[in-house]
Amino acid sequence: MSKIHAVITGVGGYVPEYILNNHELSAMMDTSDEWITSRVGIKERRILKEPNTGTSYMAAKAAEELFTKTGTKPEEIDLIIVGTTTPDHIFPSCAAMTAEKLGIKNALAFDLQAACSGFIVALSNAASFIESGKYKKVLVFGAEKMSSITNYNDRTTAPLFGDGAGVVLLEPSTEELGVLDSLIFTDGAGGKHLMLKAGGSAYPSSHETIDRSEHGVYQEGQNVFKHAVTNMAGVSGDIMDKNNLKSEDISWLIPHQANLRIIDAVVNRTGVAYEKVIINIERFGNTSAASIPLCIWEAEKKFKKGDNIILTAFGAGFTWGSVWLKWAY
Ligand code: UT7
Repeated sequence: MSKIHAVITGVGGYVPEYILNNHELSAMMDTSDEWITSRVGIKERRILKEPNTGTSYMAAKAAEELFTKTGTKPEEIDLIIVGTTTPDHIFPSCAAMTAEKLGIKNALAFDLQAACSGFIVALSNAASFIESGKYKKVLVFGAEKMSSITNYNDRTTAPLFGDGAGVVLLEPSTEELGVLDSLIFTDGAGGKHLMLKAGGSAYPSSHETIDRSEHGVYQEGQNVFKHAVTNMAGVSGDIMDKNNLKSEDISWLIPHQANLRIIDAVVNRTGVAYEKVIINIERFGNTSAASIPLCIWEAEKKFKKGDNIILTAFGAGFTWGSVWLKWAY
């Protein structure tokens, strides 16, 4: 019997309407369009402004678009995995809330927390569920409301993040397409350099944690930058070497969108031509787990059946990895 592969058969995405550009940010804090553009590569980011509305709102919008495009019905979905660090609540899961919004009643649904690597970790896990033969239609999300954990008094992190959600539909195929390999790693020693200090079980929310501004992203930028460059560039090269893929074999490189200078390092290591690199950091900023599926969503029309695509990400944990997939339509 031929091996079952997990192939992407549809894509959806959603970004909020509100655009927070560098000029508006510069009026809020001591920063400038020049600094943000040259050091990070971001011009604007989307912010979800609707009150009392969380990540599942955007995830559901993305999936509704996917359903319309693919003709999929909610009752056909048997598994939902949401890569997110910003679920609507600590519990219930964002996946359960998204399922409810979509009218999905009979699916296994859970969140996967791997920070900015959340989508690729969710995708490689979802592929295993499909390859087992037990699951047939799986929604894999990367969805984040990063504005909910951004401290807009901290100029070293506030310009970086934006909100959005992307989703892919995974289905089984016996063709040599879809998710063909993944390399995923974790190094918990990096945890202290990039974290949300309070609001979890170690430091529950209190007046003191609010006074200490511990509910916004804490990041030691240069340290994280160095690890992101080394690990994302390294693992992208490694997955290509392992599968005998040369730079000219790669149709598209889709890196996590944290910093244009990190993306450049990955491009240099892999040797992939710049016009084959999908980049939207300028318009969306760092949307954490949502950045890669938002790139797939925007670039979908460029892809052709059989295209070799390398996804790569790095995030808190530290977590990092690469996925090699062949586009299926
Ligand atoms: O998403 C996954 C994980 N995250 C990442 O991969 C992000 C990795 N890190 C980075 O991308 C970069 O380290 C940052 C974009 C966060 C920061 O860039 P940097 O080039 O590493 O800047 P820096 O922290 O070394 O700061 C350089 C200078 C400092 O001033 P002095 O000490 O040289 O006078 C900062 O105070 O830039 C200053 N600075 C700013 N100036 C204007 C920091 N933030 C700003 C700002 N506007 N927003």
